[in-house]
Amino acid sequence: MQHVLSVKQFADKKLLDALFKRAAEFQAMKPSDYPDPLKNKIIATVFYEPSTRTRLSFESAIQRLGGKLLTVENAAGSSSQVKGESLEDAIRVINGYADGIVMRHPEMGSAERAAAVSTVPIINGGDGGNEHPTQALFDLFTMQESRGKIDGLKIGIAGDLKHSRTQQSIIRLVSLFDVELFLISPESIKLPEERAQELRDNGTTFHELTNWKNVISDLDVLYCNRIQKERYEDPKDYEALIDSVYLTLDTVKTMKPEAIILDPLPRVDNIAPEVDSDPRAAYFRQAANGLFVRMALLEWLFV
Ligand code: NCD
Repeated sequence: MQHVLSVKQFADKKLLDALFKRAAEFQAMKPSDYPDPLKNKIIATVFYEPSTRTRLSFESAIQRLGGKLLTVENAAGSSSQVKGESLEDAIRVINGYADGIVMRHPEMGSAERAAAVSTVPIINGGDGGNEHPTQALFDLFTMQESRGKIDGLKIGIAGDLKHSRTQQSIIRLVSLFDVELFLISPESIKLPEERAQELRDNGTTFHELTNWKNVISDLDVLYCNRIQKERYEDPKDYEALIDSVYLTLDTVKTMKPEAIILDPLPRVDNIAPEVDSDPRAAYFRQAANGLFVRMALLEWLFV
């Protein structure tokens, strides 16, 4: 049995290649030709935090592959957590009903806690500001699809690098490759020191910048994300940061024609709507790829 908790588990490039090859096959297939490797499997999606893409694309992937679903879309408000049940007990109980659990939870390390007691695979759909490993997989897939390869790319990662689990996961995943990273954020929400140390230990070339002015025209990939409002106790601290990494069409026009702009979405006050029709905007295609990569991942986990 295998859990999916962190992108660190995908350090094996052969595994990444195999998953991406399979995802590309799913992408090219008509839904009526999909196999049904999840037939007779029931997967639970248990979300203690809001989600649109992650929950729906997992639920679509599960059903596209012939599996069935149990879903708790608002576990924080409608599960027995409201009565005070621990996450561990909830997982032990769901173990009796499902063959796998996709979960999202506001606390860092919650997916590991769940995995420690679970008898079925746990897939981390986001644990606080820690990781969002399956998102990073299809972010990487989208980079590869658009640019042919990852090695040699100059990748800008912008936004709330302190709190964004998507940024944390993609930074870790692309650092397995020979890339040059530009980490772009206001000083107060820069990448936590222990994560920066991980990059140094890996020998990854990275630069920390407070804005993209001097590098934007050199980037092959700009990966944006909103300031993570829900992680701020004082709304004033959030409001002070919202304009700090706002991408306008004028800025996009200074980028290389073949560059791509990614964002895990939701886009909230961080990319101007006019950018959507620029050919460099790849974020809706990225979201669509979530289905195919999650299908490949589910097939690998459950077959
Ligand atoms: C992200 C998340 O929940 O971390 N959303 C997603 O899953 N695509 C990004 C975000 O909320 O900013």
